[in-house]
Amino acid sequence: MPDQTSPAGLRTVVLTGAAGRIGRTVARELEGRWDLRLTDTRTVEGVEGLAVLDVSDLDACRTAFAGADAVVHLAADPSPDATFDDLLSPNLVGPYAVARAAAEVGVRRLVLASSLHAVSGLPMTLQRRPSNAPRPANLYGASKAWSEAVGAMIAATTATSVVALRIGYFHVDRPAAGGDLMERSAWLSGRDAAELVRAAVEADLPTGVEGFVVANGTSANRHRVAELEETRRAIGYMPVDDAWATEAEADE
Ligand SMILES: NC(=O)c1ccc[n+]([C@@H]2O[C@H](COP(=O)([O-])OP(=O)(O)OC[C@H]3O[C@@H](n4cnc5c(N)ncnc54)[C@H](O)[C@@H]3O)[C@@H](O)[C@H]2O)c1
Repeated sequence: MPDQTSPAGLRTVVLTGAAGRIGRTVARELEGRWDLRLTDTRTVEGVEGLAVLDVSDLDACRTAFAGADAVVHLAADPSPDATFDDLLSPNLVGPYAVARAAAEVGVRRLVLASSLHAVSGLPMTLQRRPSNAPRPANLYGASKAWSEAVGAMIAATTATSVVALRIGYFHVDRPAAGGDLMERSAWLSGRDAAELVRAAVEADLPTGVEGFVVANGTSANRHRVAELEETRRAIGYMPVDDAWATEAEADE
């Protein structure tokens, strides 16, 4: 069994896409809790210790994940308007290479950044549940449905358990009161993004078919596009922010 903790006894967690918006926030918030290995194809100012990793490179993923307890896979083209050519390497080959490499080197937990776009084809009036089967309305959402399917396959066939996070609308600042209703009801704050990743990595899950979990990733918004109770029960996610907090205060 590979050593999956650092000399300080912390669990070793690899982040892909760590130079991105969510990666930078999660790395900052969870620094010190885990021994983080930050990877991306690019470097950015203000993020120390980023190692180069292209997630479509299976061999490079194997090397980067060796000895890790968990891999949090954030790297992707996050655009809902992305074309098939844009998505092919980062969003289709990437999750396959990451999941296969993680399982091959004995990673305990793989966390995949999916998206509520995986279910964007459901009627807008329907609150999204993690148990909803993928129903994408664009190719980006379809690429996230693919990553969920790869995750389910890996959990069913290897000792690696997998949590797919259907992330809503990530933004470090609370969306403006009176702003776009979909953005507000899907808002995921910075500290709740870190809490979501923490819960997904640390949750006690079985292996096998039951070791694949889909989780919804929004803050505790007063009006919410996605149901959060199933996710709390499944992985212990406890969000604290609310896009409507300022109105709630005004009502009191
Ligand atoms: N931001 C949101 O609101 C949101 C919503 C739903 C899902 N997501 C998902 O969360 C994840 C992170 O999103 P984000 O907003 O931080 O995106 P981002 O674009 O800010 O960051 C993505 C990072 O991935 C890296 N990357 C791209 N291709 C790569 C490759 N082949 N190998 C390695 N790294 C590569 C980029 O350099 C970038 O730093 C993505 O998977 C995205 O689809 C984001």
